[in-house]
Amino acid sequence: QTVKYTFGLEELEQRLAGYLSVPKVIVVAGDSDELPVVKKELGRAVVQQMKNRVRSGDVIAVAGGTTLASAAEMMVPDPRWQNTIFVPARGGLGEKVEIQANTISSAMAMKAQASYRLLHVPDQLSEDTRRSLMQEPGVQEVLDLLSTASIVVHGIGEAKTMAGRRTTSASLRSRLEEESAVAESFGYYVNQDGQVVHRENTVGLQWDELRRDQTVITVAGGSSKAKAIDAYMRYRPSSILITDEGAAKAILEQN
Ligand code: G3H
Repeated sequence: QTVKYTFGLEELEQRLAGYLSVPKVIVVAGDSDELPVVKKELGRAVVQQMKNRVRSGDVIAVAGGTTLASAAEMMVPDPRWQNTIFVPARGGLGEKVEIQANTISSAMAMKAQASYRLLHVPDQLSEDTRRSLMQEPGVQEVLDLLSTASIVVHGIGEAKTMAGRRTTSASLRSRLEEESAVAESFGYYVNQDGQVVHRENTVGLQWDELRRDQTVITVAGGSSKAKAIDAYMRYRPSSILITDEGAAKAILEQN
């Protein structure tokens, strides 16, 4: 808390919450683009907010990415995780296995000493395969659980970085550029007005299934993600944004 007042982070939190119309914003000191330790602090803040909101028996949907991998690293056992179930928010999105939603949600659950389910769905599905996989009882069970999630935790990526990091075809990469995609989350790419310009074909939580009665915890930091965070947050439901000083200042400065 002392650190916050020293660096004026509370003021940043309030200004950002007002600008993005998000009920709650948490800003950690530093810029995770410059200092890797800041990403760990983002992860610590995610775990703290999850703990504040969780109730016994809750289903928690967890997406992928390096920021959420930091949150999994910071997870520790606590009575509040009793009887909770961690579920991956989406199937494969062409990422390295360490940062896929399956890996992160199961790692979180194991460290929390809670239960978890896996979503056994490969990347890059055709629409027909996606539909038939969704009928599989094992997949259906996880999708049913996902629809009851009380807490959803996810990151936001910068569109070009995400397309480059994943197995994305050259034609899709140039289409994303033509369509001015700036942000990516849950496999959806959006432009700066929050319009969806592309959706990856995978199963799992869809954006229009996010509910107002859920706690949606969004985490993304680093000044390089300023435009992406802005584009996502102003147009999609989120209860809490956890970001860093670098991103918060860049978002407010660019406007
Ligand atoms: O969809 C968003 C990305 O998974 C965020 O990934 O945390 O590694 O930047 P990142």
